[in-house]
Amino acid sequence: MSFETISVIGLGYIGLPTAAAFAARQKKVIGVDVNQHAVDTINQGKIHIVEPDLDKTVKTDVEAGYLKAFTTPQRADAFLIAVPTPFKDDHQPDLSYVMAAAESIAPLLKKGDLIILESTSPTGATEQMAQRLAAMRADLTFPQQQGENSDIDIAYCPERVLPGKVMVELIKNDRVIGGMTMKSSQRASELYRIFLTGECVITNAKTAEMCKLTENSFRDVNIAFANELSFICAEQGINVWELINLANRHPRVNILQPGPGVGGHCIAVDPWFIVAQNPKQSRLIQTARLVNDSKPIWVVDQVKKVLADCLTETGKRANEIKISCFGLTFKPDIDDLRESPAMQITKMIADWHTGTTYVVEPNINELPNVLKGLCQLISTEVAAANADIILLLVDHKQFKAIKGEQIRQKWVVDTKGVWR
Ligand SMILES: NC(=O)c1ccc[n+]([C@@H]2O[C@H](COP(=O)([O-])OP(=O)(O)OC[C@H]3O[C@@H](n4cnc5c(N)ncnc54)[C@H](O)[C@@H]3O)[C@@H](O)[C@H]2O)c1
Repeated sequence: MSFETISVIGLGYIGLPTAAAFAARQKKVIGVDVNQHAVDTINQGKIHIVEPDLDKTVKTDVEAGYLKAFTTPQRADAFLIAVPTPFKDDHQPDLSYVMAAAESIAPLLKKGDLIILESTSPTGATEQMAQRLAAMRADLTFPQQQGENSDIDIAYCPERVLPGKVMVELIKNDRVIGGMTMKSSQRASELYRIFLTGECVITNAKTAEMCKLTENSFRDVNIAFANELSFICAEQGINVWELINLANRHPRVNILQPGPGVGGHCIAVDPWFIVAQNPKQSRLIQTARLVNDSKPIWVVDQVKKVLADCLTETGKRANEIKISCFGLTFKPDIDDLRESPAMQITKMIADWHTGTTYVVEPNINELPNVLKGLCQLISTEVAAANADIILLLVDHKQFKAIKGEQIRQKWVVDTKGVWR
C-alpha cells in the first residue's frame, strides 16, 4: 500500500523538519501537536523553533497545501511519533508522552497503516507501545500477534540529526530501520525513501532502540574522557588542549575536546536509559555521566580560584569585581538553552558572586527568566572592555573571531580552549 497521507505526531525539533521534508516531496502531511501555539504558527507558514532553512520549507509546504497542522490526530496511512522522552527525577525513562501519542492515534487506525516511533526510547518501548495499541484495538492485529500477517506494521526508526544542520542531515544521513517484522522494516524504508538520499539499514526494533542510545552514550563517554583529562591536567599544570593535540597525532588516537559539561536533551539524557535498564553492566556509561555532570561545579571552582588571585593582586573587594560569562547555549552558534551547562555555571556564579555578573550571548535578545535580575546581558565589546574576569563557556563563532592576544584581562577561565 502506498502512503497517500502521512501524519507526524509531535512538531518539535524533530517532528516539524520531518513533516516538512515529506510535504516538500508533495505528500499530504498532517502534523499534530498538543501545543496550540505551534499549530497556529505552522498553519500561518511560520515556525516556532529555530532551525536554519526550516522556515522556508514550511512556508512553501503550507502555501502549496501539502502541510497542515492540527491539535488532534486525523486519519492517515502512516503515523510517525516524535514526542519528548525525558527522564524522571530518578533517571528512569518517562514514556508517558509516547503512550499518550499512541493512545491518541489508536481510534483512527485502519488495516494497512504503518506506525513509526522516532522518539529516543529505552529498549522494549516499541513493543510496549504495540501492546498498548493492541489493547485498545482488539479488532485489528499487530506484529507481536500476527507477525508478517498483521493488519498494522510497526517500526522503531531513530533520528540522528545535528541541531543547526537538521534540514541537510535529515535527508542525507543513513537511517536505522527497526521493524517489528521484516514487512514493517520494508514498509518503513519505503516511507523514508520518499525524501531520504542516505541508506535505509534494516534491523529489529530492539537493536534500533539500543543503536540510538549507543550513539549518544559513545559521545558522552568520549567527552567524559576529555573532561577527565582536563581535571588531571589542571592538577599537573599541563595545557590540556596542547596535550590532546599532541596525543591526536597518534594515527589511532582521536580524543574529543573538553568543555564546561554536557548539555542538550540527548547526550546528557539518553545514556541514563541504558543505565536504568542495565545498572550492573553499565558502570562506564554511568561514570561518564557523573564525570560530565560534575564539570560545571569544577568550572565554578576554577573561577573562585581566579577570583581569589585577582583580589590578592588588585587589593579590590569581591563586590567590585565584574565577571563576564561568554555564552549560555548548550552548543555553539544556536539559540537552544535546554539543559545547558553554560547556563548552570552562569547561574551558580551569579548566585554566589557579590559583584556584577555579565552575560554575553549573541544568539539571544533577552536573558532567560532564571537569570533575570541576577545578571546583565551585554555586548562582547562592552564585556571585553569592562570585565575583570572572563569565563568562556561556549565557542560561538563571534568569540572564536577574537584573538587570544586581544584579551587584555589577566584572569581568564577558558573552558573551550578558544584563546589557549
Ligand atoms: N532534537 C534533537 O536534536 C533530537 C535528535 C534525535 C532524537 N531526538 C528525540 O526526538 C524526540 C523529540 O525530540 P524534539 O527535540 O523534537 O522534542 P520537542 O520538545 O522539540 O518536540 C516535541 C513536540 O511533541 C509535542 N507533544 C507532546 N506530547 C504530544 C502528544 N501526545 N501529541 C502530539 N504532540 C505532542 C510537544 O508539544 C512538542 O512540540 C525525543 O525523543 C528526542 O530525544 C531529538
